[in-house]
Amino acid sequence: MANIKFFSGEKTPLEMHKVRIIQKLSLPPVEARAIAMEEAGFNTFLLRNRDVYLDMLTDSGVNAMSDQQQAAMMIADDSYAGSETFFKLAAKVEELFGFQHFLPCHQGRAAENMIASTFIQPGKVALMNFHFTTAKAHVTRLGGKVEELVTKEGTKTTSTHPFKGNIDLDALRESITRLGKQVAFLRIEVGTNLIGGQPVSLQNMREATAIAREHGIVTVMDASLLQDNLYFIKTREEAEKGKSIREITREISDLFDIIYFSARKLGFARGGGMMIRDEAMFDSMKVMLPLFEGFLTYGGMSVREMEAIVVGLDESMDEDIIAHGPMMTEYMCEELLKNGVPVVTPPGGLGCHINAREFLSHVPAEQYPAGALAAAVYIAGGVRGMERGTLSEEREPDGSEHVAEMELLRMALPRRVFTHSQVRYAIDRITWLHRNRHLIGGLEFIEEPPVLRFFLGRLRAKGDWQNQIVAQFRKDFGDSL
Ligand code: F0G
Repeated sequence: MANIKFFSGEKTPLEMHKVRIIQKLSLPPVEARAIAMEEAGFNTFLLRNRDVYLDMLTDSGVNAMSDQQQAAMMIADDSYAGSETFFKLAAKVEELFGFQHFLPCHQGRAAENMIASTFIQPGKVALMNFHFTTAKAHVTRLGGKVEELVTKEGTKTTSTHPFKGNIDLDALRESITRLGKQVAFLRIEVGTNLIGGQPVSLQNMREATAIAREHGIVTVMDASLLQDNLYFIKTREEAEKGKSIREITREISDLFDIIYFSARKLGFARGGGMMIRDEAMFDSMKVMLPLFEGFLTYGGMSVREMEAIVVGLDESMDEDIIAHGPMMTEYMCEELLKNGVPVVTPPGGLGCHINAREFLSHVPAEQYPAGALAAAVYIAGGVRGMERGTLSEEREPDGSEHVAEMELLRMALPRRVFTHSQVRYAIDRITWLHRNRHLIGGLEFIEEPPVLRFFLGRLRAKGDWQNQIVAQFRKDFGDSL
């Protein structure tokens, strides 16, 4: 980030870009928001975007593209097989990550499907710093299990640890000794989504992958959130501060056998990809591509998106560009903390994570506090976040709830999308809701899908707390939207 200080001393995440294309937004009145939420089954995934003022559901596929990306899309080489655009993308991947073999795919979970299909059979265990919903679902779908090895600090909501995504190396050694040949692979999510977009240090990656290598275990990096993690390594890891983002990227990449990413996050576009170091492994995996994704030179992506990824990956190497997301997140977290709202600290990447377990300490875990808070934040401000807690977990085989380690409401900050005043508005409404948190109650399912239930499940409020929020809003805000 360019070194620009304010005379006032204020810490403001100053944009190093300007807006040249805009989309008009609207904000329905609070009464309409309560109705929209009921119609969406108290699930923010099921809201219509026209009813949303600020969409902080995710940063996936909704980051703003640059002028350079838009320009590149105009010259994409459209062909089913042998597209020049593909070769450009493969060459960019090799330049930045040093891998010679690249499989394009339609998004991150497609890579997870191919990795799980290759390495998981019943009884196998995938070791991870922390799971991601889709990564875990592909492992369990095939009869495998996930073991999480993040350090204890990782799942503490309040901490000063700069790298909460780190693997506990003793726990890793213990798992390997106990499981032996059952270990399918070691997956490190670089920028750990479900614990609040928390980074992994380069030193921890070096040590963890060295232990895996000693035991012949395949190492996999999920690089979907690499961009934020690179910024945190550069700014928080003393030994790496003198290196460029490109140098750090290459050092990380050299540690892994497989790297995959969602290009809906990394690369400011849409799509995905997987790099594979070993040629024989590549040959065995590439046969799945025409079956599940598309031909080897597009993998289910539009060639225009592939052109955009080529440019977007380069932009992810630019410190001014990658600083903005984490700085905006830090701003939002710090302002909320000042107002007494419990958030995950230190601020990570991806967005601001509110600790719903503390915010709604009167709502039991089985009534989904983070889901209830997501619904309440939408009603209060037309701001859409995502539940990242018990609702996002699968039930235990006996049907009981698996209470999540962390019960979070994620307010994602898609890159280069929101202005400072919009973020201030979200802070204002969340703070108001916190003052009135006693009004918010729990949720219960009315329709519960058996897999990844958070996407499509429908719930209802226990009681009619949504209407109490509306009444309090009218009292406090008068005729404001
Ligand atoms: N890995 C991580 C760390 C992710 O955050 C995601 C997606 C995926 C894999 C799957 O990628 O969506 O392209 O298939 N995260 C989105 C989110 C859904 O909202 O955090 P995908």
